[in-house]
Amino acid sequence: MKLLHSKDIYYIVRDVFKCLDPKVMNHGTRTSYILYKMLQVMDKYEMYEVAEFAFIATMHDIGAFRTNYMQDQLQYETKDYMPHSIYGYLFLLYLTPFKDRAKILLYHHTDFNQLPKKDYEFNDIIDCLNVAEKMDLYSNILGSNFDYQMLQKQSGIKYSPKALELLYQAEKKYSVFSKLSSGEYKKELDELYEYLIFTNEEKKEMLLGLMYCVGFRSEYTMFDTVTCSHIASSIGEKLSISKDEEDDLFYAALFHDAGMCAISREIVEAPRKLSDEEMATLRKHVEIGEEILKGRLDDSVLEIIMAHHERGDGSGYPNKLKDYQMNVLQRILQVADTITGLTSPRSYREPKPKELVLNILREEAEKGRLNKEIVRVAVTYYDSIMEGVKVKSDEMLTMYRKLQSNYEITYKQMK
Ligand SMILES: [Fe+2]
Ligand SMILES: [Fe+2]
Ligand SMILES: [Fe+2]
Repeated sequence: MKLLHSKDIYYIVRDVFKCLDPKVMNHGTRTSYILYKMLQVMDKYEMYEVAEFAFIATMHDIGAFRTNYMQDQLQYETKDYMPHSIYGYLFLLYLTPFKDRAKILLYHHTDFNQLPKKDYEFNDIIDCLNVAEKMDLYSNILGSNFDYQMLQKQSGIKYSPKALELLYQAEKKYSVFSKLSSGEYKKELDELYEYLIFTNEEKKEMLLGLMYCVGFRSEYTMFDTVTCSHIASSIGEKLSISKDEEDDLFYAALFHDAGMCAISREIVEAPRKLSDEEMATLRKHVEIGEEILKGRLDDSVLEIIMAHHERGDGSGYPNKLKDYQMNVLQRILQVADTITGLTSPRSYREPKPKELVLNILREEAEKGRLNKEIVRVAVTYYDSIMEGVKVKSDEMLTMYRKLQSNYEITYKQMK
């Protein structure tokens, strides 16, 4: 992986979440634009900081993915806003480089006169985000009846007078709402995200965090991703692949099933044999993943992702590649993904025992479907590889538990 631009991190996060729920992300993106324009009027922050706040604003409702009523925007935005505010906060706190700004999400529904007036350095952003996201919500609900001055009645109570003033000025100066309806705002956001700067470590943290958050919807997906990544990198290590190849394999394993976010849970987690039609839908996850990640990740990574369901005898999909048409990293991911599928627990079936897994792998290699050399390595080091998987899965389980108990503590404190 040679180059992963900071702005591509934003696009990957946005597009994966968009796949999960377009409504949450469209609202997030529009809100981020309103906030961006308000901060431009405020003229206090550097552009890279404005870009980061806008990024956070795009994700301001992602906590909704962890709640039971993600589909019901009215429920989590008005009636019961605490759960998604807390989960969003914990997501930023544990899983992103935005730890110091996590409280922005915790308080994004708190009334202006209820906000703890302790010196949290980003209180001004909370005030602005609160106004920006209400503006988007109400303008969507009320359509042409919407008047952007209507929040004025709650000035000093629900909304910060300063933030409202910034909104009015932004509207006067930049015609925010007509740009939102014409779609012109998208180009301006694209230009803004050129200013994002993440270190390589932060990029990795953000992408891993994204996959953890996808796991909010289905913990199986997350365990599969962690298992598959570990198996792939262990096999790669035994085969002494280069540092660049290691990186490629890391990103490919992390994102190989990213396209699954667009497939309904009824199909992904169906405790039964799928119909032909459902199977065809499921298989589309490979191409959907390509659509999301193309131009963001290097082609060398995409190539691996695209081939994770190919088989050496040409019986795989989507391109029916043969073994000689594939490289070592593609073959490694196929084996790692196969082992993951066999060993992952599901609510409706037990993981397959070791002997059965090894037999299936040997058979697949015999039939020329999986590569013999890669299978030989996986079989030889099976025990130590799977011990590593256990360590990684336990770490993740601990993280999820920590997040959950922290959720409960924060909930009590906020009441
Ligand atoms: Fe919200
Ligand atoms: Fe919102
Ligand atoms: Fe897959």
